[in-house]
Amino acid sequence: MMAGLRVFAPAKINLTLHVTGQRADGYHLLDSLVVFADVGDVVQLRPDTAWSLLVDGPEAGSVPPGDENLALRVARLFPRIASALTLTKELPVASGIGGGSADAAAVWRGLCQMAGRDADANALLELGADIPVCVPSRSARMQGIGEMVTSVDGLPHLDVVLANPRVAVSTPQIFKALTHKDNAPMPPVLPEFFDAAALCNWLAAQRNDLQIPAEAIAPQIAETCQTLAALSGCLLARMSGSGATCFGVFSTAEEATEAADRLAIVQPNWWVRAGRLGGMQRVAAPQAL
Ligand code: C5P
Repeated sequence: MMAGLRVFAPAKINLTLHVTGQRADGYHLLDSLVVFADVGDVVQLRPDTAWSLLVDGPEAGSVPPGDENLALRVARLFPRIASALTLTKELPVASGIGGGSADAAAVWRGLCQMAGRDADANALLELGADIPVCVPSRSARMQGIGEMVTSVDGLPHLDVVLANPRVAVSTPQIFKALTHKDNAPMPPVLPEFFDAAALCNWLAAQRNDLQIPAEAIAPQIAETCQTLAALSGCLLARMSGSGATCFGVFSTAEEATEAADRLAIVQPNWWVRAGRLGGMQRVAAPQAL
C-alpha cells in the first residue's frame, strides 16, 4: 500500500483585486490577478482507517481544530479514502494569502491523485470562494465570485517580501465595509510583461479595492505597506486579498532577502518572509512520501 503523499500548499497572492459588483445573494464579483508563492503550508496524507488531523509548525496555534477545519471538510468529500492528515502551518491564518483555502486545495489535489481522478475544483466553491483558484495553484485571472479561473501564462517571476503585522482580519467584515462595489474591472487583455519592472508598472495602475476598507478597520495594514514601500529597492507594495498580509516587489531575490532581513529586525513581531511568486506548476504536484 502507498505510504502517503506530501502536498505543498502555496500562499495565494492577489496582485490585483477589483470588486466589480455584488450578486443578489451578497457575494461580490471580483476581477483578480492571482499568483502563488514558494512560501506555504505542507499537508501530508497517510492512508488510515479513520480521518484525523494533526497540526504542527510555527503557525499551528491559531488553526481551527477538528471538523471546522476546511482541510477536514474537503477530506470528508472522499468518504472511501480515510487518511491521517498532518498540516504543517507556515502561513498565518485569516491573513489574505489563502491559508485555509490553500490547505483545503492541497488536500483535494492529494486525494484526487490517490483516487486517480482529475482535481476538478467546482465541487469546492461552496466551501470557499478562493479554493477553485488554489486547486491548480498556477498564475490565473479569477473572476465571478471565484469560480471563473483562467490560467495566465508568461508572467515574469516576482521576488517579494511578504509581511503581516499580526492582525487577523475578518473577510466578511472587510467586504461589508466596502462602500463602492461597482468598480472598473482589469483591462480585458493583459499586456505582455518582459520583466518584474514592466509588470509592476502595469500593476501600479490597477488596485486592490479591499485595501481602503481594510486599512480603515486595521490601520496596521497602511503602516505595513508604507514600511515595505520605504525599503530600498521596493518597486510596488500592496495588500493581498482582504489583508492583512502585504507584499513588496523587488528586482532581484538578493534585494528581497536583504529587505526581509532588515524588516524582521525593525519589526520583530511581524510575520516576514522573502519569497518568489509565479512558476509554481511543479511544486504544487503531490509527491510520494
Ligand atoms: O467563500 P469564503 O468563505 O472565502 O468567503 C468569506 C466571506 O467573504 C463570504 O461569506 C462573503 O461574506 C465574503 N465574500 C464575498 N464575495 C466573494 C468572496 C467572499 O462577499 N467573492
